[in-house]
Amino acid sequence: MPWNCHILSTWTQERSMKWLVIFGLVAFSECLVMIPLRKVKSIRENLRDKGLLKNFLGEHPHDLIQNRLTVESAPQKNISQQPLRNHLDSVYVGNITIGTPPQQFSVVFDTGSSDTWVPSIYCQSMACVTHNTFDPFQSTTLLFPSIVIELHYGSGTMTGLLGYDTIQMGDLIIKNQTFGLSLTEDDMAFEHATFDGILGLAYPSLAIKGTTPIFDTIMNQSLISEPVFAFYLSTETEAGSMVMFGGVLDCYYKGDLKWVPLSKPHYWQIPLERISMKGKIVACKRGCQAIVSTGTSMIGPRKQVYNIHKRFDGYYLQDLYVIPCSYMKTLPDIVFTIEGIDYPVPARAYVQEIARGLCVSTFQGRRNKSIRNEIWILGDVFLRLYFTVFDRGQNRIGLAPAV
Ligand SMILES: *[C@@H]1O[C@H](CO)[C@@H](O)[C@H](O)[C@H]1NC(C)=O
Ligand SMILES: *[C@@H]1O[C@H](CO)[C@@H](O)[C@H](O)[C@H]1NC(C)=O
Ligand SMILES: *[C@@H]1O[C@H](CO)[C@@H](O)[C@H](O)[C@H]1NC(C)=O
Ligand SMILES: *[C@@H]1O[C@H](CO)[C@@H](O)[C@H](O)[C@H]1NC(C)=O
Ligand SMILES: *[C@@H]1O[C@H](CO)[C@@H](O)[C@H](O)[C@H]1NC(C)=O
Repeated sequence: MPWNCHILSTWTQERSMKWLVIFGLVAFSECLVMIPLRKVKSIRENLRDKGLLKNFLGEHPHDLIQNRLTVESAPQKNISQQPLRNHLDSVYVGNITIGTPPQQFSVVFDTGSSDTWVPSIYCQSMACVTHNTFDPFQSTTLLFPSIVIELHYGSGTMTGLLGYDTIQMGDLIIKNQTFGLSLTEDDMAFEHATFDGILGLAYPSLAIKGTTPIFDTIMNQSLISEPVFAFYLSTETEAGSMVMFGGVLDCYYKGDLKWVPLSKPHYWQIPLERISMKGKIVACKRGCQAIVSTGTSMIGPRKQVYNIHKRFDGYYLQDLYVIPCSYMKTLPDIVFTIEGIDYPVPARAYVQEIARGLCVSTFQGRRNKSIRNEIWILGDVFLRLYFTVFDRGQNRIGLAPAV
């Protein structure tokens, strides 16, 4: 981790961080908890490597994969729709433990959903055989009220039971946290997942009714100094990424954080002024909305994404837009303007080399005409460039170029 870090305090003044180095570990005197994340292969990359991607795309209507967006719909009783999820994309995972004594799981820290779940020993799906499973009999602190739940993600569905138990992440010990124990998981989607479960960091309105999302419990139990968390997603292949809870370390970004009020506290959704290339508006002409979501790439309405792609001189191969890698140097930045500030995304970020000389665009089109408003998803591609603070206290997002 970078040296010379300061905790950004109450968002106006900075004060020096008091830290101790014990056995190479940095302990903070404030209630700020750092959790290292590892970038792992996405389901998509995994399926592609195993030659299974084509089968998967064949079995799943395009729309399922390219995300269903039902922004208005409130969650039904014990069913929660996670329309934004697309775990085909690259993911950043971290370790948590559940229960007493602790059982360990690797989870996606996901700002696009609000529920937390892991596989259970009751689950017979292949997806559960290939992952760590939670054993209720091994935990002395578990409450198990036998409530059935169902979660629908872009890439698949899980059903399960609700439980309440102690969840530990880093130094945070969260008591009596609701979580899901899966009974069934869609095999094609989750069997090849490089994570066991999902930890949702969006608003309570997106969670299963009557449950409290983990960050709300963290705030309720006064486990952190400030009601914020922040992501630093490293461009390095595996290590170096962080999610911090309870404060912001200023050594992970350059300049000042620029604050953007949320359009609506539900998703982490903000207004977008325009999307342009070389000064020309290419999408979001009259302003639109963007959802900031870890665990996704860049997703936009199909027509707008097509409009952007057609300027690149590549071609579509199934759902992929192929661009010769040699073009990369000539491709312009795609500029997202948010609250009067330009956030350029250069070609090296939105073009990914998937095989030698074969590059693809990381923009994906969402195919659903019934979504009236133009909604974009600013995923990992954007978050790797811009350090992002999620401020629950003031319902806003803070952005600054990542170091
Ligand atoms: C498009 O989205 C709407 C609601 O967001 C959903 O009801 C509908 O099934 C989707 N259309 C397709 C073709 O999947
Ligand atoms: C999670 O734990 C496993 C094994 O305990 C370890 O190998 C891995 O590096 C940990 N991952 C992270 C992101 O800390
Ligand atoms: C929702 O939970 C209740 C118990 O609280 C259960 O009776 C019901 O079957 C569940 N509904 C679904 C759709 O699983
Ligand atoms: C845990 O949470 C559930 C649901 O909010 C509640 O019914 C129960 O009393 C809590 N248990 C403890 C020990 O706090
Ligand atoms: C925790 O916070 C949420 C909202 O942030 C609230 O609805 C819930 O009742 C709180 N739960 C407890 C146990 O305080």
